[in-house]
Amino acid sequence: MEPQKVIISQQLEASLAAAIADCQHDRLFVLTDETTHECCLPLISHYACMQGAQEIIIGATDSHKTLQSLSHVWSELQRMGATRHSLMVNLGGGMVTDLGGFAASTFKRGIPYINIPTTLLSMVDASVGGKTGINFGGLKNEIGVFNNARCVILDTQFLRTMDRENLLSGYAEMLKHGLIDCEEHWAQLLRENHGDRLPDSDKNHEPVPMILSDLSPLVAKSVAVKQRIVTEDPTERGIRKALNLGHTIGHAFESLALERTPVLHGYAVAWGLITELYLCCVKIGFPQDKMRQTVNFIKEHYGKMTITCDDYPHLIEFMHHDKKNTGNSINFTLLSAIGNICINQTATEEEIKEALDFYREC
Ligand SMILES: NC(=O)c1ccc[n+]([C@@H]2O[C@H](COP(=O)([O-])OP(=O)(O)OC[C@H]3O[C@@H](n4cnc5c(N)ncnc54)[C@H](O)[C@@H]3O)[C@@H](O)[C@H]2O)c1
Ligand SMILES: [Zn+2]
Repeated sequence: MEPQKVIISQQLEASLAAAIADCQHDRLFVLTDETTHECCLPLISHYACMQGAQEIIIGATDSHKTLQSLSHVWSELQRMGATRHSLMVNLGGGMVTDLGGFAASTFKRGIPYINIPTTLLSMVDASVGGKTGINFGGLKNEIGVFNNARCVILDTQFLRTMDRENLLSGYAEMLKHGLIDCEEHWAQLLRENHGDRLPDSDKNHEPVPMILSDLSPLVAKSVAVKQRIVTEDPTERGIRKALNLGHTIGHAFESLALERTPVLHGYAVAWGLITELYLCCVKIGFPQDKMRQTVNFIKEHYGKMTITCDDYPHLIEFMHHDKKNTGNSINFTLLSAIGNICINQTATEEEIKEALDFYREC
């Protein structure tokens, strides 16, 4: 795979101009969704380096991460005269960078692409690491390829228009990165308590002015964790599984919520972290006080999805269907301490039920 450059931008115009100039191309395309077309494209469309760029727009949110949207992107590229030497800029959240990355990776056997993530989740997670794809046949990320963006440009100014829930969703992945990284990083995330400074739920989706500039160093630190791990293990044979912390039970919560009231991915991950940190404590000696502090932070900012013990069999069934399992056992990534990663762990159904009891009572 081509190596991936991640730029923490202070000067977006200069960074983007340099990234575009770095990729020799004949035509330039920019992919947005209906929302990023409105709130993000105006921030860059007047740049000299964007003059002549042709825009392709797809529907917003994960429900549009479909073969239909992908086909639309391919058709538009074809109609607007894209060649093997064209370049695509993906401007959006994880949906746009995943689908756009896949469209670029497959069009005429692959054209280069640049990611400009515009949600917190895509800045610290989705836009980096080369996983691209779409949902298919009712399954998430079922079809796709590993292929790095030539360059990922991060600029927190895009976050100004984001609502509190989507910011918190991204912050949960940052918390995960802090836990797998080191104590200082984790403590900074809890201490700085950005949750308090996030805007109140913006009912009308009006832009909310907020101080996000101080989020930039934490975003940089967070994406560096992801980048370090995916560089070491691009195709998830080993250490990349560290990034699954909180996700085995988190995905089960997410699937259960889908049958009731859907929740954002990061909320489910946060609840997955509560339950899996409990497993870390009882199984491999993760310190109880650190678990308690993390759990309190999550409860305070994310609340809790209500479950009863009648839901346990269903949740465990979801865990059995996790893509990451081998054979009959449920695969976990656990920590024996902050930064001390133990991949390929398993837990019995009894232990998982105990962890779910803890989640309900904590
Ligand atoms: N490739 C990976 O490694 C990886 C990792 C994690 C998640 N993902 C994928 O990422 C997607 C989730 O990412 P997401 O949370 O960014 O979702 P998203 O792209 O659907 O964005 C969420 C919403 O925010 C809107 N939005 C985007 N930028 C905005 C801005 N600056 N201001 C206001 N609104 C804005 C979007 O239009 C959308 O409605 C999922 O498809 C998931 O599968 C991929
Ligand atoms: Zn995740």
